[in-house]
Amino acid sequence: MRVIIVKSYEDIGKEAAKIVKDLIIKKPNAVLGLATGSTPISLYKELIRIHKEEGLDFSKVITFNLDEYYGLSGGHPQSYRYFMDENLFNGINIKKENTHVPDGTIPIDKIEEYCKKYEEMIKQAGGIDLQILGIGGDGHIAFNEPGSSIYSRTRLVALDEQTIKDNSRFFEKIEDVPRFALTMGVGTILEAKEIILLANGIKKAEVVAKAIEGPITSQITASALQLHPKVTAILDEEAASKLKRKKYYKFAHQAEEKINLRIF
Ligand code: GLP
Repeated sequence: MRVIIVKSYEDIGKEAAKIVKDLIIKKPNAVLGLATGSTPISLYKELIRIHKEEGLDFSKVITFNLDEYYGLSGGHPQSYRYFMDENLFNGINIKKENTHVPDGTIPIDKIEEYCKKYEEMIKQAGGIDLQILGIGGDGHIAFNEPGSSIYSRTRLVALDEQTIKDNSRFFEKIEDVPRFALTMGVGTILEAKEIILLANGIKKAEVVAKAIEGPITSQITASALQLHPKVTAILDEEAASKLKRKKYYKFAHQAEEKINLRIF
């Protein structure tokens, strides 16, 4: 895994945006996999800036979001559809019909069929070129809680107590946090051609070290990223502080900059 350690949260956004921008310039109809949560906000701000100031064109870009709370409609201010509209889509020239966020209002007896269709749509679009990921406090990617199989696909999941607690900061009270979600599986995510994992702050340090340097285990679903050939983790100093090979990652990144090549 390629690991880039930057000074600040804003720098995470800038570094990740460079990768997204390069891709869209090379492939204007790129398929992006997108994440929610507080972590990718600096990336989305930077993409909006690049669109407005440098004219980066999103008109042909297609997006698929990782997950959605089950029971929330897209108009709910805590839904991930609402989050994406507010934090990215409304600030760029993407076509709304090219943006996909799982529908949290699908009736229970239609969920299996819906999840299969979501995966089909990703395939029909040509697969995800670049997947953006954050990491949950329990090491989850998307809503793949500890115990999710590395082969798991898009499905309905029950949220872990820690996730409900962590995400309750966005809701008025903890009872308002949905108990279930629709999420891409770990297997779905690993099919992306390239992945960027973002993390900031001391609260993520331990779990980031486990995901990057620990054993591959379904108890830390982000550790499955070690199986993927093209992952870049972009971390601030705090999130990187528990990594054992910090010096090596810094050296490798400096070397990359010198030869102007990404080394995975
Ligand atoms: C939620 C999302 C994840 C995200 C995680 C971390 O659980 N489903 O995709 O990575 O939150 O959130 P934050 O970035 O706010 O720490």
